[in-house]
Amino acid sequence: MQAHQQSSRKRYQESYRQSIDHPETFWKEQAARIPWFTFPDTILAWDEQQHARWFVDGEMNICHAALDHHVDEGRGEQTALLWDSPVSGQKRRMSYREMRDATAVFAGALRNLGVEKGDRVVIYMPMVPEALIAMYACARLGAVHSVVFGGFAAHELAVRIDDASPKVVIAASCGIEVDKIIPYKPIVDAALTQSTHQPDACVILQRDACLAELSDGDHEWHSLAADAEPAACVSVKATDPLYVLYTSGTTGKPKGVVRDHGGYAVALAYSMEAVYDMAPGEVFFSASDVGWVVGHSYIVYAPLLRGCTTVVYEGKPVRTPDAGAFWRLIEEYRVKAFFTAPTAFRAIKKEDPEGTHLAQYDISCLKNLFLAGERLDPPTYHWLNKLLERPVIDHWWQTETGWPIAANMMGIDPVPTKAGSATFPVPGYDVRILDPDGEEAGPNIQGSVVIRQPMPPGCLTTIWQNPERFHKAYMATFPGFYLTGDGGYFDKEGYLFVMGRTDDVINVAGHRLSTGEMEEVLGAHPAVAECAVIGIRDALKGQVPVGLVIPKDGFDGDTLALENELKQQVREKIGGIAGLQEVLVVSRLPKTRSGKILRKLLRTIADGEEYAVPSTIDDPGSLQDVHDSMRERALGQAEQARQR
Ligand code: COA
Ligand code: AMP
Repeated sequence: MQAHQQSSRKRYQESYRQSIDHPETFWKEQAARIPWFTFPDTILAWDEQQHARWFVDGEMNICHAALDHHVDEGRGEQTALLWDSPVSGQKRRMSYREMRDATAVFAGALRNLGVEKGDRVVIYMPMVPEALIAMYACARLGAVHSVVFGGFAAHELAVRIDDASPKVVIAASCGIEVDKIIPYKPIVDAALTQSTHQPDACVILQRDACLAELSDGDHEWHSLAADAEPAACVSVKATDPLYVLYTSGTTGKPKGVVRDHGGYAVALAYSMEAVYDMAPGEVFFSASDVGWVVGHSYIVYAPLLRGCTTVVYEGKPVRTPDAGAFWRLIEEYRVKAFFTAPTAFRAIKKEDPEGTHLAQYDISCLKNLFLAGERLDPPTYHWLNKLLERPVIDHWWQTETGWPIAANMMGIDPVPTKAGSATFPVPGYDVRILDPDGEEAGPNIQGSVVIRQPMPPGCLTTIWQNPERFHKAYMATFPGFYLTGDGGYFDKEGYLFVMGRTDDVINVAGHRLSTGEMEEVLGAHPAVAECAVIGIRDALKGQVPVGLVIPKDGFDGDTLALENELKQQVREKIGGIAGLQEVLVVSRLPKTRSGKILRKLLRTIADGEEYAVPSTIDDPGSLQDVHDSMRERALGQAEQARQR
């Protein structure tokens, strides 16, 4: 256990109890953290399916709260955003006033294209300031943005365009990876060829690294903005949708997580102080991407709601140019709190295990390091503790919640941390562990991690266009509780350990991916009869996907060629981030008698762990086949990776 400060936990416990026993009083107090056009009278209401709705009669606008309000309060000249892009060799600073003005003008430009309150806008952009400006501009108009991560391929973009039916698509001409430029415009064009829905217009931000060819219906960002009048913030209801962010579920179709304006703004403003211990004027650096929830919450919205400076980094933890990149940024921008995924530090540790790069920088400004996106594995936790000699905070959350469910509350009452634990539930979240019968599990017993209703403000309000899926996926399994999809346990001291997904979602380098989606790609190949995709352990990325396929009877092609073709198809359809580590052609897959593929067993075999042959298995001989294939190929690779 790491004790960086003695604590009685009293302040945390008081706060936590109040949030659970008197949620309305607690959240009414927190609501005063943000500016409202109309302060809510009703703090908590319930919809017909008994889902919580926060601040239902409040009116505000998150763009106003994060930008205009600060300018009006005298923070106009303070730096709002620091952009640092080693991949393009550029840097930029924007004050609150500049951000507000650029956002107001771009909102005017979107309005000229017909975008109004409630319309959707899809944003497909890399880590450039304009991505934030586009998001805030949508919020300003009351339009609903849906940002798609730049690493997703055309097909994934098309699926999201069809689901969100945007009036406008905004993209950059390219993204820049470590050693390659990725032209985005051809990806957008390909997506629009595949999608049924067609937007009225596309807006393209031209980047010097690769200019896009524009066609009819395309507008260049700056020319469009040059003709626009600034637009004022539209007053929206607290419960009006701010964005739809797609995340992987257990089926091939991603879930459009819907977030509202008011509850989200209140929760983020609260978390900046209570979880992250940030005060106005301080610098927050979250090394994620605007395409992920961490980017939405802690690059774009939360730091500015709190009057802080946000660092927008277009680069990698390593290779841009080296494993000292994060330390350089922390020193250069005087970062107080830094947030990234454990996988990023595993990449740094691999290249610089002794921390020689760190020794070249003065990072005395850094008070706390926060990690999330996957469980902070104990070896990385210990390595970071030793290297940094300051609090290393693992905290747990998901796209659906939008802000941390469990954390060490650095702004209220820091407590000693434990390796492998995300510490305690954050005020607002009544976290329980249930066994399969819905009974509460005792200390140290693993079960489903659930959250008792009401979920606090800021959490998803529904699945876009699919309230039934929302209810079924999250609320129906244990009535009265939200199902997180994670398994875990509390220890005797109340520390929460979140151990991994209980469904078919995997976590690759901090990216959440659906094995079901990859299986759809493999299964669509004419030579494939059956398939399974599993996530196996990987020393750098946490997990990597491996596919197992049974060819159709009569298949007499080259197996190696088929394996490579399938790998390529997954990259093409989903994107590079979903690259299958290995595809193995096998003759049988282990199944239960009812025909369900025993994926957990496959994972256990692939990870090289001991396994027992389950009594429900239909064809025990299939295990030997799979075992031998994996030993020969995937396991060998995984073992090499583990030793890297
Ligand atoms: N646009 C286009 N392509 C992208 C992309 C983007 N924004 N991000 C990743 N890709 C591509 C990469 O170019 C790579 O393609 P390749 O296989 O053809 O070379 C592929 O997707 C895999 O990329 P990545 O997952 O980044 O692997 P990597 O080996 O290049 O880097 C890490 C490994 C650990 C350094 C990297 O994954 C990382 O920084 N992870 C942190 C993730 C994170 O912050 N997640 C947020 C959750 S909090
Ligand atoms: P995402 O929605 O992409 O943020 O992924 C959420 C999932 O990542 C969670 O359901 C967990 O499985 C995993 N996760 C994120 N942070 C943590 C953490 N600190 N500890 C354990 N698992 C985590």
